[in-house]
Amino acid sequence: MVLKSNYTGSTEKVVSGSNPSDITNDMGTNNALGLHKAQVNPLSLSKQDLMLEKVEAISSWANQKADSGYESFISRTQQAELQVDIFDGDTPKVLVVDDHAASRMTSVALLAMEGYEIIEADSGFSAIEQIVNSSPDLILLDVMMPGMDGFEVCQRIKQNEQTRLIPVIFITALNDKRSRIHGIEVGADDFLTKPFDRLELAARVKSLVRQKRLNEDLDHAEKVLFSMARAVESRDPNTGDHCERLVQLGKAFGEYLKLSRNQIRDLMWGGYLHDIGKVGIPDAILLKCGKLTTEEWEIMRQHVLIGERICQALRSTRGVIPIIRHHHERWDGSGYPDGLKGSEIPELAQIFQTVDIYDALTSERPYKKAYTPEEALSIMKQETELGWRNPELMDKFTNFIRFWQSNQNQI
Ligand SMILES: [Fe+2]
Ligand SMILES: [Fe+2]
Repeated sequence: MVLKSNYTGSTEKVVSGSNPSDITNDMGTNNALGLHKAQVNPLSLSKQDLMLEKVEAISSWANQKADSGYESFISRTQQAELQVDIFDGDTPKVLVVDDHAASRMTSVALLAMEGYEIIEADSGFSAIEQIVNSSPDLILLDVMMPGMDGFEVCQRIKQNEQTRLIPVIFITALNDKRSRIHGIEVGADDFLTKPFDRLELAARVKSLVRQKRLNEDLDHAEKVLFSMARAVESRDPNTGDHCERLVQLGKAFGEYLKLSRNQIRDLMWGGYLHDIGKVGIPDAILLKCGKLTTEEWEIMRQHVLIGERICQALRSTRGVIPIIRHHHERWDGSGYPDGLKGSEIPELAQIFQTVDIYDALTSERPYKKAYTPEEALSIMKQETELGWRNPELMDKFTNFIRFWQSNQNQI
C-alpha cells in the first residue's frame, strides 16, 4: 500500500509543497504530557547521578577538614558563629536520635557549640514523629534501639518523598562493618563512630546540611520545569498521552540500542520536555486550526530555542538540551533551527525524533486517523527516501518496532 507521506516531523504536517505558508498548524497537537509519573521516576534517576559527583566532593572536603588538626576553643567558637552566617541566618536543625540519654548529651553538646538548633528523640517512633513535626536538616541516628531500630527509621525517611532529602548520619561502633553495609543499603548518607572527633562531626554535619539545601533548591527547580511542561500540555486538549508514550517508547528503544543509562534518562526526559518552549508561543498561533502565515510559522519555530533557554539554567537537564533544540532537524539539512546535516545532528535528537514521529503517526488526532504500526513505518520509510531521516537509524527503528510489537503481542 502506498501512503501519502505528509509528515515532516512530529510537530509539522506539510499539506502541499514545501513553502512554509502552505503548512497547516498541528504544531500544538503533539505536546501531550502525561506528567503524573514524571515527578517520581525521572527525578530520582537524575538525583543519583548528581549525588555521585557531590558525594566525592563532600568526602574529599570532609577529609581535608578532619585532617586539619585541632584548633583552640576560641577559634572553634568563632567558627561556629561563622557557620550560622553561612546558612543565611537560618539556623540548621539537627535531630539526635539515641535511646541512651548520656549518648545523646555528647552529640547535643558538641552540635550546640557549633551553633545548631538541636531536637532529640529517644526512640525510632519518636524520631519519626519529630521528623514529621519539625522537618530537621539532618539526623544523627543511633543504630541499636528497642522497638524500631535505626535502619528502619532510615529506610522510612528515604522512602518518603517528603523526607528523602534529609541526610542521615549513622552512629556506629568502631569497626562495625555489618552495620555500615546495612546502613548503606537503607540509604545512609554518612557514618560516624563513637567516641566522636568533634572536628569530624562538625565537618560532616556542615557539609551534609549545605548539600541538603542545594538538593532542595535543585529539586524545586526540576519540579517547576516539569509543572511548566504539564501546563504546556494542558493548553491543547487533543494530544492524549503523547509524552507519556514517548517516555515509554524512548526508554524501550534506548535499551534496544544499548544506550547508556544516562542517555536513556535523557531520552525519557526529552519525552516530557521537548516541546516545553511552546509555553512561549501565543495561543492564537499554537492552537490555530488553519494554515500558519510565514510570520506565524517563524514564531512557531522559536519553540525549540525557547525550550533550550528554559532548560539551560539547570545542570540536570543539560543532556536533554540537544533533544529540545534539534528535534526538528532533518538528515538532508532542510530542518530547523540550525539546518544541521547528517551526523551533525546530535544522535539522541535523531533517536528521539524517530520515536516522536512514530507516536504522532500511530495516534489519532482530530485531523487524522491512527495509522497502524506498519503504515507508520511505511510513511517513515518514504520520508527517509526523501532524505529526511538517517537510513541506518530508520532500519534499526523498524527492526525495533517489529521486535517490540511481537513482545507486546506475547504479553
Ligand atoms: Fe512530540
Ligand atoms: Fe517540537
